[in-house]
Amino acid sequence: MNILHIVGARPNFMKVAPVLNALKEREKVEQTVIHTGQHYDANMSDVFFQQLGIPAPDVNLAVGSGSHAKQTAEIMVRLEPVVLERQPDTVLVYGDVNSTVATVLVCAKLGVRVGHVEAGLRSFDRTMPEEVNRLVTDQLADFLFTPSEDGDENLRREGIGAEKVFRVGNVMIDSLVRLLPLAQKTGSNGLPGRYALVTLHRPANVDDGATLKGILESLLEVNRDLAVVFPAHPRTRQRIAEFGLNAGQLRVLDPLPYVDFLGLQSRATVVITDSGGIQEETTYLGVPCLTVRENTERPITVSMGTNVLVGRDREKLRTELSRVLAGKAKKGVVPPLWDGHAGERIADVLVRQTVASQAIN
Ligand code: UD1
Repeated sequence: MNILHIVGARPNFMKVAPVLNALKEREKVEQTVIHTGQHYDANMSDVFFQQLGIPAPDVNLAVGSGSHAKQTAEIMVRLEPVVLERQPDTVLVYGDVNSTVATVLVCAKLGVRVGHVEAGLRSFDRTMPEEVNRLVTDQLADFLFTPSEDGDENLRREGIGAEKVFRVGNVMIDSLVRLLPLAQKTGSNGLPGRYALVTLHRPANVDDGATLKGILESLLEVNRDLAVVFPAHPRTRQRIAEFGLNAGQLRVLDPLPYVDFLGLQSRATVVITDSGGIQEETTYLGVPCLTVRENTERPITVSMGTNVLVGRDREKLRTELSRVLAGKAKKGVVPPLWDGHAGERIADVLVRQTVASQAIN
């Protein structure tokens, strides 16, 4: 079995690691890792490969940044000859980033089978670039690996045959389970005992000056009651500088390596974020999460976990934060199959499907 894994952006790396590890244990599996180069800063990419123990990419397409059309098209142009040369049985794509949708478009046209890890998530908000990527990817993929029941339900509603859908659980949680013991040994780096950990990078929150200003003002208000620790995405840092905004008293840090960030998350009093993956990680860790979005493609983190959507409503953020500070944060449970073994379940499916297709041929 010849598998090609395509990754490009930070949240892909935590997802590919468990699948690579699980397939390594199987017989006669050849694996190739291709990095599109969507994320290229060392602290957005290389350090994740090191900490997660992912082998250095066999190929780096080095596409870098650009508009959505340019970045997606550039990945397609550079990936096509690699797929043709390597002749994979299956190509695996992860999450909802531009590298994911570009790959599935290339492979569908070449008649190469694609497996989508983290399929079926929907925010029902097509102004999010990721939602467009998810819709297209799931229509074209051959194997859809879902993390939770809502994913299966969304795919069924979109007319995708049940025989293609495999509910395997959450691969991101596999990486968390494996590295949490190490993360818990990381030091506090001079941070106070209680703090709000903040991340923000969604275009809807950071690309408009007035919106970003409003969010920063809310965070400065939070900072009066609870120190705000804010590892800032490069995009957000650029926007703060570009709009000449004040993040003055907040502890703004560079993006952190996976293990260090996980350590901070596990000890946080509350997490305030617009990330998708962090909504899931806080649910697993039982840490209160206030999500600065009106919707989520991960509704299970709200229905079962610790997540509360506060949107950009300052009053709602205030109310929810007081709840947390009063020790009355929402309690949650860990969703089914978020158990550290999703990667193994994906490997089982791929082995089974390959044996079946070889029998037919
Ligand atoms: C991408 C994903 C998003 C994911 C996020 C995680 C898409 C559509 N979006 O958004 O779903 O949640 O990654 O981080 O694929 N930049 C750097 N160094 C880097 C990477 C980016 O400076 O290593 C800067 C560049 O100025 C770039 C901007 O950040 O233009 C945005 O990067 P890009 O990859 O286009 O999207 P993200 O916002 O990171």
